[in-house]
This record gives sequence, structure tokens and C-alpha cells, in this order.
Amino acid sequence: MRIKFSCAVILVLTFASLAFSADFAVGPADSITMPPGNRVSQTLLAGNKLVTFRSWLDIPYVNNPVEPDYQRLNIYVPEEYFHGESVNGYTAKTAPIMMPNGVGGYMPGKQFIPANDSRHGTPNVALYALSKGYVVITPAIRGRTLANGKAPALIVDYKAAVRWVRHNKDKLPAGDTEKIISDGLSAGGALSSLLGATGNAKEYEPYLKEIGAEDERDDIFASVVYCPITNLENADMPYEWIFNGVNTYHLGPAREMDENMQAASEALKKAFPAYLNSLGLKDYTLDENGNGTFRTYIEGLYIAAAQKALDAGENVSGLDWLTVEGDKVTGADLSKYAVWATRMKAAPAFDSLNMASFENNEFGDKHFTDYAFKHSTSEAPAMADAEKIYIMNPMNFIGKADVAKHWRIRHGVKDRDTSMAIPALLALKLQEAGYDADVAAVWGVPHDGNYDLPELFEWLDGICK
Ligand code: DHB
Repeated sequence: MRIKFSCAVILVLTFASLAFSADFAVGPADSITMPPGNRVSQTLLAGNKLVTFRSWLDIPYVNNPVEPDYQRLNIYVPEEYFHGESVNGYTAKTAPIMMPNGVGGYMPGKQFIPANDSRHGTPNVALYALSKGYVVITPAIRGRTLANGKAPALIVDYKAAVRWVRHNKDKLPAGDTEKIISDGLSAGGALSSLLGATGNAKEYEPYLKEIGAEDERDDIFASVVYCPITNLENADMPYEWIFNGVNTYHLGPAREMDENMQAASEALKKAFPAYLNSLGLKDYTLDENGNGTFRTYIEGLYIAAAQKALDAGENVSGLDWLTVEGDKVTGADLSKYAVWATRMKAAPAFDSLNMASFENNEFGDKHFTDYAFKHSTSEAPAMADAEKIYIMNPMNFIGKADVAKHWRIRHGVKDRDTSMAIPALLALKLQEAGYDADVAAVWGVPHDGNYDLPELFEWLDGICK
């Protein structure tokens, strides 16, 4: 039985890959118009389901590309939509458009390709989305190592891709351009949150014009955000609010923070309450010692994550930072959490004193906070352009731009690439502005994303249908 099944799959895949090479069109937008009756397609096994889809690859999404290898996108459409069939309750007209980005480390990101994801042992988000009847459109996006890839190139490209999709809405074989969903993790999560928060904001217009983006709206329906390395100019403070007192850092071999770093940790930790309170969140504040309702809120996110794991039969006992009484998780202690989680980055975590972080590089090898600029150990400290820092931060646009209505924000309990406060603040600011922002910490998860696709798509189907 098993052998027969494998043979069948291999046959299908072989046929599919042969057929596939003849199918896709490379070139201008017009080539996406489907010849009627064209049945050539690719088939992949997603879990135990064979998923067949058609692909259009490498379509330029701007008229004046500055990095032509990146400013292009792929389109993937479930085969059923070419036969008038529906998938998961969606039709060619109503299918949401999933637009995951492949950005990591603020590096250039190639088009995300539907495939099985060996790390998680599941289909990746693109293949999973196709299996659920979503149209998938994946732009490649510029990043910091390209000549023309520094901030704000990544968000300008993601917006340009959305504009291209809207501009070509009548040529797309399927998909509802009012249901565009972004998705990314880490720097890609920051990017997803930027796309979600900055819809149609005029600040990006000159950059979009420069690359010949279509003159269209770039607001989206929903933003899926995993472990976002965002709110960069404020992220050093909450990192120290959590990790101050833990002086060994683990970026590369374990090392001790030197005097300058330890002084930075003290200063940044002390500065966090004023920043938090300046956001004017009505239910969340901190006193000058960093205690208060916001701290309780973050601990509550960890408690909820542990409770969910415990309810699913996982063992969450034996951790000195977590209190478990019977089948209830009743407490979390953030100071002890930091010792358990360990510190990844020396202080300041993002705007590093020697100007050598990914984020410094993203801003053109410059500082982007007053603290690091004033205390720089780099030979020629320079400050990034204030306007560029501003338009790289989604927090600045909530309540101002055409913000996505729906948000799903996740951060692993074991993640120390940025503090839990960063995704939490994004969610709280969105909630206070009236948006639907579902936020959670996830037990057992390090710096990662798209690890919970069945839950993610249950949520997406809930908002899309
Ligand atoms: C990423 C991770 C980081 O720790 C960081 O500072 C920036 C980006 C990433 O994985 O994308």
C-alpha cells in the first residue's frame, strides 16, 4: 500500500515537474493572462494532500527597477480555480492573496517558493496557503547588502509589489485584491508589520515614484507577524528592561559584556519606563523601577503560553521562573526568566556601540539612537537620517495611515533576538487604535515563524470568510 502510494506520488511529481517547465511565463504583466484550457501545472504533496497549482515566475513589479534581480515576483494559483471549482469555500473571485516575504536579517529576500519545509516537517506557508485555496504572490525584496538595498528599500519594494497586484487585478487568474495578507518572520516580520501599518502613507511616495511603482493603493487586509525585529530605535530599552543583570551574551561564542556595554544596559533599562509611558497606553504603565501593569502584562503572555502548553499535555514544571500549581500556571517572574532564557545580544542590542549590528548596516552603517551615537566606540560615528528612521517604524503610523484591520502577532518564549515587549507594544498600540490584533507568546519556540500553520489558517479563514 505504502509502496504503491509512493510510486504514484513520484509519477505525479515527475509529470508535474516536466509539465511545469513548459508552463510559466517570464516577462511583462500581460503574460499572466491565462490561455483558456491551459491545464499545465505543478503538483506537490502537502501533508497527505496533493496540491496542484499554476505558476508565473519572475514578473517585474516596478517600471524602473534598481535591482532587477529582486524587484520581481511569482504568482501561484490553485489549479481548481481554472475549472470553476472552489477550495476550502473560496472561489477564483474570493480567494485571499497571501503575500509572504522571504526577508531575514535585513538581507535581500528572494521570492518565497511553495515547498515542503524540512525544518518544521510541514508544508511551508506558501504551499500550505495553496492547499487552503489561497492565491500566493511572493515578491523578492531588496536588502541591506545590495548597493541600493538600505532602509527603506525593503518596505518600498513590498508596497510596490502590492501596488502591482492591485494594478493587475483584472489580469490575475484569481484572487481578491481586497484580501491581501502579508507574512514574515524576524526582519521579515518587521517588514510585514510595516506593510500592515503604513497603508498609503505619503511618506513613501517619493521612494515609490523613483522605482516606478504603479499608482495604486498599498494598504492591505491583514498582517501576519512573527518575532518582529522592529521599532528599532526603541528596542534597546526593553531588551535591557528584561536582560539587565545577565551579563554573558551568546551572539557567537559566549562572552561577557564590557564596562561600556554594562553601562549601556543600566541606562537603557532606566530609560524604558519613560518610553513606555510616553506611548499613552491607557491600561499599561511602568513606574521608574520598571514595575507595573505592563510588566504584569508581559508576564501574563508567558503564563498564557505555558498554560496552553500544559493543557496540551506538555511538561512545563521545574522552571524557577514559572509557578505551576496542579493544572494551572499561576505566575511568571521576568527577572528569573532572563537568566533562564539567557541574553543573546550585548547592550545596546540593536544600535551597537561599535556600529556593527545588522541594524546599523541596514541604516547605512550608522547609529539610529541618541544613546549609541553619544557613547559610540566606532571611529567615525554617524547618525542615520531621522526621516529614514521614522519611516522604518510601524509604530509611527498606527492611527495615521490606512492600517490593516487584522493582525496576528507571535513571539517565541525562548526568543531573545528582541524582547517580548516589542511585539506586545505593537499589538497594544493596534488594539488601542481599534484594530483586531491577536498577540501571543508561544511556548517552546525560539526565534522562528510559520510554525503553527493550521492555527494561523484557522485564524485567517475566520477573518477572510
Ligand atoms: C534578524 C535577527 C536579528 O537578531 C536581528 O537583529 C535582525 C534580523 C533576522 O533573523 O531576520
